[in-house]
Amino acid sequence: MAMIAHKCAGHQVTVVDINQSRIDAWNSDKLPVFEPGLDAIVEEARGRNLFFSTDVDTAIREAEMIFLSVNTPTKTYGVGAGRAADLRYIEKCARKIAEVAEDDKIVVEKSTLPVRTAESVKRILESNSNGRNFQILSNPEFLAEGTAMADLEAPDRVLIGGDQTPGGLAAIQKLVDIYATWVPRANVITTNLWSSELSKLTANAFLAQRISSINAISALCEATEADVDEVAHAIGTDSRIGPKFLRASVGFGGSCFQKDILNLVYLCEHFGLPEVAAYWNGVIEMNDYQKRRFSRRVISAMFNTVSDKKIAVLGFAFKKDTNDTRESAAIYICKDLLEEQANLAIYDPKVEVAQIQKDLGIDADFDRVTYCESAYEATEGAHAVLILTEWDAFKTLDFQKIYDHMQLPAFIFDGRNLLDLDALRAIGFEARGIGKG
Ligand code: UDX
Repeated sequence: MAMIAHKCAGHQVTVVDINQSRIDAWNSDKLPVFEPGLDAIVEEARGRNLFFSTDVDTAIREAEMIFLSVNTPTKTYGVGAGRAADLRYIEKCARKIAEVAEDDKIVVEKSTLPVRTAESVKRILESNSNGRNFQILSNPEFLAEGTAMADLEAPDRVLIGGDQTPGGLAAIQKLVDIYATWVPRANVITTNLWSSELSKLTANAFLAQRISSINAISALCEATEADVDEVAHAIGTDSRIGPKFLRASVGFGGSCFQKDILNLVYLCEHFGLPEVAAYWNGVIEMNDYQKRRFSRRVISAMFNTVSDKKIAVLGFAFKKDTNDTRESAAIYICKDLLEEQANLAIYDPKVEVAQIQKDLGIDADFDRVTYCESAYEATEGAHAVLILTEWDAFKTLDFQKIYDHMQLPAFIFDGRNLLDLDALRAIGFEARGIGKG
């Protein structure tokens, strides 16, 4: 919404939430999310044509177009628990719009939703329409965290789905016009509602599948003399495969991949397609295996015990340039190692201590985990260093200095293939990467 406000000075954009402290943060100097480049754009548009407010009703009444951008977490209760998307927030939004709106509205699904959710939104709105006309569009978001501003500035494509009726096509055109302010028209794809909803789940499933595929190969590389980065480069130069999203890692995380695939799996089962469900579920299983495999390798390399050993964990976010930890592989690795009674010293340049405690399910007095202000503090006296997030700053650490202050043998496990293992070995480290024999 900040990008739309930034690009379309003639439109007024009002972001509303029932959470007062969230809105206060959006109106302050410290935004509630860390995203490179976002501050500047918010600052430029805020108060001009970008507003943050808790007055939901007024914003609904005044808007011509309403984006539903609430979260759709994996359901934790009842039918479909652990897999289906929890749509209660979406439904509440639809009911709120039906209750408050005084005239026609275009309602845009921005949240990632299961296929045919628009149908439910439409039915709720239409059965309470009282003569008002509601058009539902699907406009999934493909930005990635950490590069969100660049992704929004020059998206590969913008996808807009809507009813293929005169009213639906007119609504699609209105949203096309907004994006066309800065996105070349050829990059704006329009489809029917269901194709748009399904494309978002499919895009995430394909991206995650590439990572699980290269991670599967990384296990084979470790068992042989192959190097997964060399394999990835060799296959990525095939223009049909392409070089992106082939970085072997400790496992993918983030708010989308796992949730969306679980959702896809659930949908396939719901529509009586168990083989298709099992196929996509394999992507998740491979990711779980990759995370478990990493902690097992750490333990077995360290003479089968990490009990009472100090292990430095560098990076806790699910990827670099974000403070987001949702589904971060680091959470799983840390929990595995804590179960083996290791002592962890965690450093991440952006993640807050309270967040780490929440993710690990521990409180401030839990004494097996310490939170450090720098990588040097975390590695002081440690038996092993784990790189779990690919922060650029980790590449230029003084590893000689780190080695000099560690227990010997000094282990380093690079879960992101970020570092030069040969250089580390020359210092004296027992260095291991992902998919390196
Ligand atoms: C993803 C999609 O990329 C985006 O289009 C969608 O809108 C939201 O979900 P995001 O989760 O922000 O975006 O990050 P992404 O860059 O896709 O990375 C997801 C995870 O995969 C991270 O944990 C990342 O470290 C990991 N990853 C990515 C790899 O392990 N290897 C890779 O080659 C790429």
